[in-house]
Order: sequence, then C-alpha cells, then structure tokens
Amino acid sequence: MSRPQSLKANNSTQRALLAALATVALCGSAVAQRAPANVRLTIDLNHPGPVIAPAVEGQFAENLGRGIYDGIWVGHHSSIPNRNGYRTDVMDALKALHVPVIRWPGGCFADTYDWRDGVGPDAGRPRGINTNWGGVTDDNSFGTNEFMDYSVALGADAYVSLNLGSLPAYDARQWVQYMTAGGDSALAQERRTNGRDKPWTNLKYVGYGNELWGCGGNMTADYAASLFKRYATFVNPAPGAPDFVKIASGPNEADYAWTDTMMRGAARQMGAISLHYYTIPGPSWEHKGSATGFSKDEWATTLSKARYIDTLIAKHSAIMDKYDPGKKVALDVDEWGTWYDQAPGSHPGFLYQQNTLRDAEVAALTLDVFFRHTDRVKLATIAQMVNVLQAMVLTDGDRMLLTPTYHVFHMYVPFQGATPYPATVSGPDYVEGKHRLPMVDASVARGTDGRLYLALVNLDPDRGAHVETGLNGTASGQILSGPKMDSHNTFAAPDTIHPVAYAGQAEHGSLAFELPAKSIAVVAVDEP
Ligand code: AHR
Repeated sequence: MSRPQSLKANNSTQRALLAALATVALCGSAVAQRAPANVRLTIDLNHPGPVIAPAVEGQFAENLGRGIYDGIWVGHHSSIPNRNGYRTDVMDALKALHVPVIRWPGGCFADTYDWRDGVGPDAGRPRGINTNWGGVTDDNSFGTNEFMDYSVALGADAYVSLNLGSLPAYDARQWVQYMTAGGDSALAQERRTNGRDKPWTNLKYVGYGNELWGCGGNMTADYAASLFKRYATFVNPAPGAPDFVKIASGPNEADYAWTDTMMRGAARQMGAISLHYYTIPGPSWEHKGSATGFSKDEWATTLSKARYIDTLIAKHSAIMDKYDPGKKVALDVDEWGTWYDQAPGSHPGFLYQQNTLRDAEVAALTLDVFFRHTDRVKLATIAQMVNVLQAMVLTDGDRMLLTPTYHVFHMYVPFQGATPYPATVSGPDYVEGKHRLPMVDASVARGTDGRLYLALVNLDPDRGAHVETGLNGTASGQILSGPKMDSHNTFAAPDTIHPVAYAGQAEHGSLAFELPAKSIAVVAVDEP
C-alpha cells in the first residue's frame, strides 16, 4: 500500500502515460493500430437513483482452502507478522478497501459448521474436517470471537451464515444469543469468559442457510421456505441488541421458480433473499477455463457472461415485485465472481486461482450493474476475499500480492454510499466472434463527499475510445490497464499491474477522456 496515490499529475504526464499504455497494449497483442472509437456519455443529473448501499462492495470469507487459515489468520505464534493472530499485511491491505461487510463462515461450509467448536480456549477446540473443501482438518482456532473481532478491526459489518442444513434451530439461536446478548445470561457470561465483555453490535446480517437447493441440504423451495420461517421465528437478536437483516437462501443463477416459491411463502419474514452467480468462461463445471493464457474468445465470453448478472437481477427482481411491490425485501448477491479451473499444482478443493486484468473488468462491470439496481441490491459479497476464487489478495508464506480485482475495489471506494445517476453510453459495440457487447460501460454517482465520480470501463482489448461527456470542469483519478489481457501480479513481480494517475481533458468547453483498450478508470470531477 506504499504506492503513491497522487491524482494530480499534469497533462503532459497524462498524455505520456496514456501513449505508453496504448503502445504497450498494441505491442503485446500485435494488433494494427485502430483509431479510437467515438463514444458519448450522457448523464441525467435530474433523476438520481436510490443510494448505492456500501455493502454492495462487501466480501465473502469462507472457511475454505487458504481463505481463512494462512490468508487472514496465522495464529498468535506465527513467524508471519501478525496482530493478535491476524496477518498484518492482509489486514492493512483490506483496511484500504473500507470493507463494508464480511460474510462468514460459508458458503457450503456454513451448513456443516457447529459454532461451539470455535469458541473457548484453543486447547479445548476440537479439530474439524472440512468435508466440502478438500477434506482437510483445521484446529478451529478461527471461530466466532476471531471473526467478529476481525470485522470490528476492519470497520466492517458482520454477516454470519447459520447452519440450517444439519443443526437444529436451537443451536442457531444459541449462537446469535452468544454474539448479541448483554445482561447476565449464561451465553453472555460465556462470551465474557472468552474475552469479549460487550456484545458485538456489528452483526448486521444473518444468513439462514446457504444454497439450500444444493450443498445446504438439497431441499425443495417449498421446504426451504417453511424451514426459513421456522428458524426466523426462533433466531432473533437478543433483547436490546440492534436488529439484523434476515437473509433467506435464494436461487442459483436463473432458478426463477425458487425465487417465486420463496417469496410467495416467506417474503413477510425476510429482510433479503440471496442470489448466487459465478462467471465461468468454459462450457461446463468440468471445463471452466484457465485463469491465465486465454484467448480473445474467452475474454469476450467471460465479459459477456459477467454482464448476464444484469438480466438475472432484473428478472428475479421482477418476480419479487409481485409479492413485494414496495421493495422492502432486498436481493443480496452474496456470492459472485469468476471461477476457473484450479491453478496447476494447487490443492484440489482449495479453489485457488490467479487473477488478471480480465477479472478486473469483470469486477468493474459487475459493480456497475449493482449500481444500476440500487432499488433491490443492498448487499453483494464477492467470492472470495483472500486466496479463494476471485480474491482481493493472494498470499504465499509471508508474501502477499494485490490482485487487479483488489485495485478495482480500491478505485471504486468512492461509490460506497454515493447517489447514482442514469448514464447512457452511445458508440460502437465491441464485437468478437459471436459476442457483441457495448464497448464502453460507465457509472456516474455523487459521492458522500459531494463530488461527482465517473467509472469508465473499456471492454475492447484492442481499441481505445474517445469519450465525450458534456460535463464541465476538470477530472482526475486513476486508471488500471496492462499490456496483455491476462496481465497479472506474481509473488516474483507483485506490482506488474497497478493503477496509475489519470485525468480528463477539456475539449470545446466540455470534459473528454482518452480511454485506452482494456482499461478501467475512475475519476472525480471538479465542477466549476
Ligand atoms: O464460493 C465457493 C462455493 O460456491 C460456496 O461455498 C458455495 O455456496 C458455492 O457453491
């Protein structure tokens, strides 16, 4: 995090940088230079939408692979620098993201987890078997206190997923009491004995099971709706504790019937229903595609599939409208991101993968979609925070690197809590084989600091865009790009791809941008 973050480079520096980016891009892909496409961004400042819930930039941290153990938690006696057992480098990197919420302990793991295994003195904690993810054992040294304290240390809300699949409602109720009860109940006293006096007040979201249609118990939607209502009756915050959002286990991808049945049966008890959607470039789960070394067709397929989340949200939301026209129930996308074939040589079942400029584009496009659905999408947690799937950071022993996805999340921080404006992009499409996509995607919002922020994403791996905005003023910020579609950071070269300073230019009295091929820019506009 020591990189200079100056947003105020002068114009000649900007031009040199952009020329360099363009040249490197062209050399890397050996494509003949094409004139930049003319693109127009039209912003409707008169019709602000509902605020972008900060929680849409949330994180998912499952007890899976090296996500928790190694990634977040190394324990008090590790030679890896740590604060109270939490590795310092990862913690500092995550702090810079202003992580709004963390979901834990799963995922599929949640419906096998007994919270009692992860509280109390270390010596008394049983070794557990992670039957979903690699069959490995762990010592349960990262449990409820460790998770809740970590989220507090990061300034994040906690999202805890209950075990509906294999434990009775009584256990889930006890767990929530343990976290939220004041007074002198036995569970509050037990928590005190375990080192935490006051109840945690940041338990803002509770998930009632995970993927109940699959790893959470292979239930029918009717059964899941009934089960959700039963657990929601008994599992509530302790008296006097802040309320939390009850999140029902929602559909996989385009399972609209699941949403319909859950909403019809249980909408009145829900604060939200979840949606899971993974971007998998390959044709099947057996052939998901490689995280690096992919073709242009795979680039386009991935971006096209990432954008499909817009259709999913629109259609699930329309079903929800039937039962909840007042939009009291949120659609929370608590698992999303890219999922590739496991990295060669990595542990089967650990879901470790590299992360490239393509992932950065997926992250930016997906956040942009969430910003267009702020009426329903109030939380989204990318899978996953550290060392698993589309991660923010990767670790190897005592080494850590920031991924391109991390950089997008960092650049997008000003959108947390911002007020979005409708924005229309007109210009040529990016066409690759059977894929036709808008070449440039954009988000526009007024941040909580009063400044106007623009995010611009160029999907075309070969062609730059000249973007006119019709706005007055100056604009500066950062841009992320790289010489290759799969530019990425390695432990040997951890800073290969990172954002650099970027600015717009005044043109005939209005603001314009030179947006290089395959790039993501976020700028703040200084209006006159
Ligand atoms: O994120 C990995 C897994 O994907 C989660 O455990 C599960 O909910 C989903 O199928």
